[in-house]
Amino acid sequence: MEFKIQIKQTKQDHIYIVDDEKKLSSLAVLTKEELAFIKTSFAVEQTIVSINKLSYFIFIYLFKNKKTDAQTHDACRKAGAELSGICNKYKLTEITIANLSANTHAAVLVAEGMALANYQFLKYRTEAKKITNTLKLIYFTKTSATVKEVAQLNIVIDAIYRARTLVNEPLNYLSAEQLSKEIVLLGKDAGFKVTVFNKARIQKEKMGGLLAVNLGSIQPPTFSIMEYLPKKALNKKPIVLVGKGVVYDTGGLSLKPTANSMDRMKSDMSGAALVSCAMYAIAKLQLPLHIIALVPATDNRPGQEAYVPGDVITMLSGKTVEVLNTDAEGRMLLADALQWAKRYKPELVMDFATLTGAASAAVGEDGIVCMGTADDQVKKAFRESGFRQYERLVEYPLWDEYGDQIKSDIADIKNVGGPSGGAITAGKFLEHFIDYPWMHFDIAGVSFATAKKGYIPVGGTAYGMRMLLDFLMHYGKA
Ligand code: BES
Ligand code: MN
Ligand code: ZN
Repeated sequence: MEFKIQIKQTKQDHIYIVDDEKKLSSLAVLTKEELAFIKTSFAVEQTIVSINKLSYFIFIYLFKNKKTDAQTHDACRKAGAELSGICNKYKLTEITIANLSANTHAAVLVAEGMALANYQFLKYRTEAKKITNTLKLIYFTKTSATVKEVAQLNIVIDAIYRARTLVNEPLNYLSAEQLSKEIVLLGKDAGFKVTVFNKARIQKEKMGGLLAVNLGSIQPPTFSIMEYLPKKALNKKPIVLVGKGVVYDTGGLSLKPTANSMDRMKSDMSGAALVSCAMYAIAKLQLPLHIIALVPATDNRPGQEAYVPGDVITMLSGKTVEVLNTDAEGRMLLADALQWAKRYKPELVMDFATLTGAASAAVGEDGIVCMGTADDQVKKAFRESGFRQYERLVEYPLWDEYGDQIKSDIADIKNVGGPSGGAITAGKFLEHFIDYPWMHFDIAGVSFATAKKGYIPVGGTAYGMRMLLDFLMHYGKA
């Protein structure tokens, strides 16, 4: 999917953003009748009005301030989603946005919503040409966006499209090895270093958690290490990103119930897609930060050799884990990656994982469950990025009592807790493998959509990407 945004005034098809009806009279293109029509449409709560000029279109978007800036900004993105739908309906290939409102961000936000909504995954559709969205280019008038904003937006959208596509790819294309190949390509394209451990190397390093999950698989696991080190980094100690790379989750021998519960399990590598494509954006944006990303990858399935409930696994850290449910596989491989991260003496580690149905049940599709040991200032920065990008965060506690649920009778810990507090007990499990400031993001509820919703398309969403990039862009700037 190609999609580009540029600063250049073109003739004809335009979106005008206005925050006051009075500004409409300054638009020479509108006739008196059209003006009256727009005003009556606005009066009945319509926010987008289309004017068919026969040889071209004009769309007027009435910008309104909401209760908070975050809500105002997201209303612009949502209007963008609607506008891209209208552009595609009329088979427009390009459009120019002119911001006549007092909010200097409005045009960029509308364009962001348009671009986010315009994504399609058509690789496996034989009639792809027929159903491809026509809209390919968004232009801004000179005063509607800055060169920097436009460059940034293009990169962020590119990264989101790539992450969504990785999530949408099924297991019969995207094995663990293929995921690593895709990561190598991202590194080549954007300019960051990638090292991939194969099964022999993973065995040599004794990544017991990753190897245990892989036992039932007919395909080998991989462990990908990405590193972006700019000449002038603001941080002395690296920031590490970790992404769960379960390319398919059947549950293993603790098989998921068949009816529908596996339908979206190709998306269990959403964390991996998110951090790998975030690295792509980070390198393209040339952020002044030293960042490393780790992706442990395998599928999780039953098989003759598969690990069984009751097995005791020695993890990379040396800790022993009693496996009481092979479907709690994500924490097994994340634990090894979090352990591996210790060697970098990191300043901050963030992991992204479709870890628990409990997180999804708790907050649904409209927020990420997070928890961690990072200090309050870091948590505040995350919260703010979450609101700015409208990929909001709900913080859960890591109270000691929850840790009691994963005490084992025969090993150091077990891989499942009790019937309640599942998102937190998963976090408590991971906490056993960290010794640095850390944040865990459970994206199980948000990473995959079963229906289009505003600028969120059906399938992989890359939800959390804009929050993460926003956080990194503000990092170290107090
Ligand atoms: N990948 C799943 C979590 C998941 C569920 C993601 C629904 C997206 C949608 C994870 O590996 C899993 O199976 N978790 C179990 C843990 C349980 C066995 C302790 C769960 O949440 O049921
Ligand atoms: Mn599972
Ligand atoms: Zn899983």
